[in-house]
Amino acid sequence: MLPPLFTNNEFHNIGLDDQFAGFDQGRYNVTGNPVDMGKFKTPTLRNVALKNSFMHDGRFSTLEEVIEHYNSGVKHSSTLDPIMTKPGNVTDIDLTEQQKSDLIAFLKTLVDDDFIGNKDLGRP
Ligand code: HEM
Repeated sequence: MLPPLFTNNEFHNIGLDDQFAGFDQGRYNVTGNPVDMGKFKTPTLRNVALKNSFMHDGRFSTLEEVIEHYNSGVKHSSTLDPIMTKPGNVTDIDLTEQQKSDLIAFLKTLVDDDFIGNKDLGRP
């Protein structure tokens, strides 16, 4: 059985930018379909805690910044994924400090030590 990769392999606009001119337009660059503007493929979260730059353009350098994006940084645009808004078109989710640190603790559990320590998968 394949190990879980912690991604849905789909493309979403998670509200990183409120307009697309001058920014990477994401999936739209491939399909030319305006509904794909600002959508990026959901990356695997396996080993995400070992990284030091996040999102397609590396704009965040800590998991705290990523969580703060989801908490209070989501920007509206025409293709924003509906899951990013609450009733009233509100994007802030008002996480407590405890909830933020719980989320980060969870992400840290996704480190795959067998994979990281496997010499067969290391540099030659
Ligand atoms: C609070 C819940 C969530 C957490 C903790 C979370 C965590 C993360 C993290 C850590 C990354 C950075 C991965 C990397 O750069 O390697 C990421 C990126 C991403 N997540 Fe989430 N995520 C959440 C909710 C969602 C939801 C609901 C969606 C889909 C609507 C989503 C879709 C994406 C996409 C498409 C990216 C890549 C964005 C880009 O490359 O610019 N995430 N997420």
